[in-house]
Amino acid sequence: MTTQNPPNGIDSSRPNVARIYDYLLGGKDNFAADREAARQLLLASPDMAGIVRDNRSFIGRVIRYLAGEAGIRQFLDLGGGLPTQTNVHQMAQEVAPDARVVYIDNDPVVWSHGQALLAHGTQVAMVRADLREPAAVLRHPEVLGLLDFSRPVAVVFAAVLHFVADEEDPHRIVAEYRDHLAPGSYLAISHGPASAENDPGDVTGQVTSVFRQASAQLHVRSEPQIRRFFDGFELVEPGVVWINEWRPDPGIPSAGQPRSLMGGAGRKP
Ligand SMILES: C[S@@+](CC[C@H](N)C(=O)[O-])C[C@H]1O[C@@H](n2cnc3c(N)ncnc32)[C@H](O)[C@@H]1O
Repeated sequence: MTTQNPPNGIDSSRPNVARIYDYLLGGKDNFAADREAARQLLLASPDMAGIVRDNRSFIGRVIRYLAGEAGIRQFLDLGGGLPTQTNVHQMAQEVAPDARVVYIDNDPVVWSHGQALLAHGTQVAMVRADLREPAAVLRHPEVLGLLDFSRPVAVVFAAVLHFVADEEDPHRIVAEYRDHLAPGSYLAISHGPASAENDPGDVTGQVTSVFRQASAQLHVRSEPQIRRFFDGFELVEPGVVWINEWRPDPGIPSAGQPRSLMGGAGRKP
C-alpha cells in the first residue's frame, strides 16, 4: 500500500528527497508528488533505481568493513533515510551484535517510521535533527545516550552531503564532526559527482533540475571537492573512487552503471 494521507504537518505536495529515494528503492512511504519526481528522474537516468541500490550495497560493504576489520562499535548515520530492508544497524550488528547506531534525519516521515521500526531495540536510536547543525546533533541527549565520543565512532554521510549547498559550507560541517571524534574514528561518504567527461548528455543537469522543486536541492561536486571532505583522515584503500569500485564483493555485479556516485572511507589518526 502506498501512503495516501499525509500525517499532520507533512507537505505531501512537494517532492521530498527521502521519499523519492524510498520510491526508487521499491518502498511504500511516498506520495504522488514524490513518485512523479522519481518518474522524471528515471526519464533523465533510466539507471537511477540501480544507482540507489548500488549506493545501499556500498553502504553495506563500508559498514561490514568498519564493524569487522576496523573494529568499530559505534555509528552515527547522518541523513539515514527511511528504514529499508537492511538498515545500517542490521548491517553492523550482523558483524558485531553489540554495535550501537544512531540515525539522524530531519524529515518527519523518516522520523515517525524510524520510531516505529526501531522502538524495540535498545542499541539503536532515530533522532530528528539537522546534520547542518553539528553542535546540536553532537549534544543531543539521545545521541549522547548511545554514543561515547571519547571512543571511536564511525560517522556516515551516505548520499546526503550533495543536498547541502556550498553556501552552507559542507566542508566546515564535516570538519566540525571530525574535530569532535576520538582518534581511531572513521568517516564514510558517498556523493554525487560533477563530471562532464563522464556525462556527455548532461544527465546530471537534468537530475539537478528535477530536485529544484524538491525538499532539498542537488549539489554535485568534483572529485577533489569530495576528497577534501576527508581532510584530517587517512583514506582507507582504495581511496575515494566510484562506489562500485570500493572493495567490491567478488562475483556480485553492480545494479546500475559502473560510474555513478563516488565514495570512500577514512580513519582519523
Ligand atoms: C538520498 S537519502 C539517503 C539515505 C541513506 N543515507 C542512503 O544513502 O541510503 C537522503 C536522506 O538525507 C536526509 N537529509 C537531507 N538533508 C538533511 C539534513 N540537512 N539533515 C538531516 N537529514 C537530511 C533526507 O531526509 C533523506 O532521508
